[in-house]
Amino acid sequence: MEGCSLFVILLLGIGCGQLVAGISVEKDLSLTLSQKNALDKFRAQVEPLLDQSYMKNDIYLIRWLRARNFDLRSAENMLRENLKWRREQKIDGIRKEDWNDMRRDYHATIDTYDKEGRPIGVIDIYDWDIRRAVLQGKGQRLLRYMDYLLESITTQVFERQDRGMNVTQWKVLGNADGFNLIEHGCPLCIPLWIQFIQGLENHYHGWLDELIVIDAPSTINVILEAVRPFLTRQTRDAFRIFGPNKTKWMPYIEERIAKSERRPQYGGTKPPVNY
Ligand SMILES: *[C@@H]1O[C@H](CO)[C@@H](O)[C@H](O)[C@H]1NC(C)=O
Ligand SMILES: *[C@@H]1O[C@H](CO)[C@@H](O)[C@H](O)[C@H]1NC(C)=O
Repeated sequence: MEGCSLFVILLLGIGCGQLVAGISVEKDLSLTLSQKNALDKFRAQVEPLLDQSYMKNDIYLIRWLRARNFDLRSAENMLRENLKWRREQKIDGIRKEDWNDMRRDYHATIDTYDKEGRPIGVIDIYDWDIRRAVLQGKGQRLLRYMDYLLESITTQVFERQDRGMNVTQWKVLGNADGFNLIEHGCPLCIPLWIQFIQGLENHYHGWLDELIVIDAPSTINVILEAVRPFLTRQTRDAFRIFGPNKTKWMPYIEERIAKSERRPQYGGTKPPVNY
């Protein structure tokens, strides 16, 4: 893929060479012998730090190792930074906070699942007036709301694992119809996008199976280019950005998400939410 402009190619919905598939559950959980040894060592090293039972899951520990290419020391630093962030920002309690003010204006659902059982975060960008949040002084609250969503969807993965399901990641599905550079790409909006991507990479690295965006106008490249330097290869490879041509995005989504798990704007039959 090197040598082609990744985002422009994805926008057309065709790869220059093969599109990299998302990591399968098997691949996510399977380790080479040396990686397994690294995991055992890592577990012994960080065990005293892990204050929540879900943190003892293989998949949780593997995340940090993979993010740091199985360098134990660097993975431990990343995990320590993360735990510090969780303490300082009180992330363990974020799901119990009152989010009604944000929920009303920034619609998102996390109640649908792909064919492999991964939870899907669905966001219609049309509703997300980022510029208004910034002008109202709610930029940081919007970011925390997004942390709330990330934490909620990641928790669902652990809950599914506890029930014996082979689920290790989540998806994001977005409809970019109505995206515009005034509400979404304003000069004050860009730093918020960048902060969001930095948070995603630092705190939720490796959880994203795919980000599928449909109906994206070409102006969305302004955002993609702005955040590009902050994206890791793995996250970038998980992006699937489609333009408005339904004959291109529909088959892609149909292969991955059942009709009953999609709301009408994604070609499905699930009743829309009444906000
Ligand atoms: C999960 O994956 C393992 C290994 O691939 C398999 O043995 C098991 O049956 C799977 N469980 C479910 C519920 O699909
Ligand atoms: C949409 O995509 C299909 C399949 O690639 C193509 O045949 C068709 O011409 C496209 N339609 C438009 C309006 O570009």
